Amino acid sequence: MLNFDYSIPTKIFFGKGKIGVLPAEIKKYGSKILLVYGGGSIKRNGIYEDITKGLKDNSIDFWELSGVEPNPRITTVRKGIEICRKNNIDLVLAIGGGSSIDCAKVIAAGYYYEGDAWDIVKDARKISKVLPVASVLTLAATGSEMDIFGVITNMDTNEKIGVGHPDMIPRFSVLDPTYTFTVPRSQTAAGTADIMSHIMEAYFSSTKEAFLQDRMAEALLKTCINYGRKAMDEPENYEARANLMWASSLAINGLLSYGKHRNWVVHPMEHELSAYYDITHGVGLAILTPYWMKYILDDSTVDKFAEFGINVWNIDASKDKYDIANAAIDKTREYFNLLEIPSKLSEVGIKEDKLEEMARQSVRKGNIGSLKPIGYEGVLNIFKEAL
Ligand code: NZQ
Ligand code: ZN
Repeated sequence: MLNFDYSIPTKIFFGKGKIGVLPAEIKKYGSKILLVYGGGSIKRNGIYEDITKGLKDNSIDFWELSGVEPNPRITTVRKGIEICRKNNIDLVLAIGGGSSIDCAKVIAAGYYYEGDAWDIVKDARKISKVLPVASVLTLAATGSEMDIFGVITNMDTNEKIGVGHPDMIPRFSVLDPTYTFTVPRSQTAAGTADIMSHIMEAYFSSTKEAFLQDRMAEALLKTCINYGRKAMDEPENYEARANLMWASSLAINGLLSYGKHRNWVVHPMEHELSAYYDITHGVGLAILTPYWMKYILDDSTVDKFAEFGINVWNIDASKDKYDIANAAIDKTREYFNLLEIPSKLSEVGIKEDKLEEMARQSVRKGNIGSLKPIGYEGVLNIFKEAL
């Protein structure tokens, strides 16, 4: 029985030139901000210049935390918290992809926490208050621009952990598709795979009566399939970039999962791959997904996979349902290959020796998955198949 509360409070400013709203939006929260960004892409493509000019013209004081790593580290979060405390920052503004936004969120939460920031990543209940966070998105992928989560890595302990708190959701996000024109081919592909995985984590649920959510999920998947490769081939195609950008936000902001049983499965597996091998999140997801699908395909799941095959991949509905399900899984793998993502973990440097350890870590909080939960044996089997 569908039964849920709805709240997605992030204000979205979507479209070319929307960065103009930034100074006025920031001023609603104060006049001292911390800019959080990555390794320099925003300086090369002019976004940094656009933004800082607007800040200076409007007498907004800003400090900077640059060099946020893809798979952002807790050490970088700690640096950001220190800058915020020293300068009484009013708002943390991330400029970038999921890594910068996630880092900004945990800085904002860590600001009010007296102990070490890693404590709040491990246990969100320790978060009591959060500085306002906002984002300027430059890469369509994680949906962090409109969700409550941050994913942080601790390289000392090989842990990559997602933390969520309602107050960590950005107060506003600027989504200008032209800001993603410079995203490299491989990151465009990985981002598309990540968006698709978020949709599938919600879609393959044990809740059967969420007809509306499932049709929306299918529409979003088709959007990714339609535009992912196109954006790689035509990086300045506004239509492609815009559709992917909006899909990234809608995939994970709650719309698709409200009322549905949630227990993600491919993500917890992938987070272990990133934690141990520092691989690109979307690449790990794309490799694992078809193996996971094959592993859980049986009489209890075949109807859902057939639905997926018919509605997303346009497979002939009159065929045998196992044939449809298997064809849908093959098409999913082929699409990720079309995005130039390999099919094997060994192709991204993953070795056999850590598979058991990573499988144990994947299920440290219990079985994973909603449509058909799996435990240690299942994860290990999928890792081995995917190697
Ligand atoms: O660091 P810079 O120089 O900015 O370069 C980045 C980085 O190298 C580059 N890039 C970003 N925008 C660009 C650009 N290059 C050229 N032009 C642009 N406009 O792309 C590279 C990757 O950036 P990153 O932010 O790491 O990518 P993504 O958005 O995929 O974020 C990945 C992180 O988010 C986490 C992942 O686990 C990973 O740590 N996730 C966060 C989620 C969330 N908050 O809800 C959910 C996801 O499932 C995911 O786990
Ligand atoms: Zn993801």
